Amino acid sequence: MRINVVTIFPSFFDVLEVSLLGKARGRGLLDVRVHDLRDHAHDRHRTVDDTPYGGGAGMVMTPEPWGLALDAIAADADSRPVFVFPSPAGERFTQSTARELADSPHLVFGCGRYEGIDERVFSYAATLGEVRLISLGDYVLNGGEVAAMAMIEAIGRLVPGVVGNPESLVEESHEDGLLEYPSYTKPASWRGYDVPDVLLSGHHGKVAEWRHEQQLERTKQRRPDLLD
Ligand code: ADE
Repeated sequence: MRINVVTIFPSFFDVLEVSLLGKARGRGLLDVRVHDLRDHAHDRHRTVDDTPYGGGAGMVMTPEPWGLALDAIAADADSRPVFVFPSPAGERFTQSTARELADSPHLVFGCGRYEGIDERVFSYAATLGEVRLISLGDYVLNGGEVAAMAMIEAIGRLVPGVVGNPESLVEESHEDGLLEYPSYTKPASWRGYDVPDVLLSGHHGKVAEWRHEQQLERTKQRRPDLLD
């Protein structure tokens, strides 16, 4: 999978060089390329923002550098990319969004800052590929970078081969619409806290039943919205 990122803070994405995703890059499973939007701003100050038409607080990212950045990425692509613009005004990102995006061979993350990106950039991007504005949740970050990082991790780990044991992807929170069951490891007793007996019983049927009950109970308590 190819992932292009356009940002005014390329160094935010240095962390993609470590951990599982870093290994996946090293093994050629993920081809991540980070581009500095300012490389496409051609004035002396490498300006990427301006005041909003109609007035209001803050600055808006100007379309010109975005157009050039997206053109360069599209010109270098074998297939029509999916453009993801992280935005608090977007559709909600969920595990099923991650699964959909993990099926795409080429994603482009456009990270906005300030009060957002000139709306025409999204219309233009739609001529080059599919466009999705996606929100991480109902809160406001300072820009799209942290949201893009979270999405890249959630999507990247679903790419076949990135996570060594694919079974570990199946029994996770949100994969079956419920929160994950609690996990325990050795020792069986620790500071007066004991591992539930059923997990030591060796009875697979009972373990599975107990885990499912735990999933339902946790989901009811912590995320009742998921059961609706
Ligand atoms: N940019 C700013 N806030 C955001 C959010 N909640 N989700 C995605 N991108 C954002």
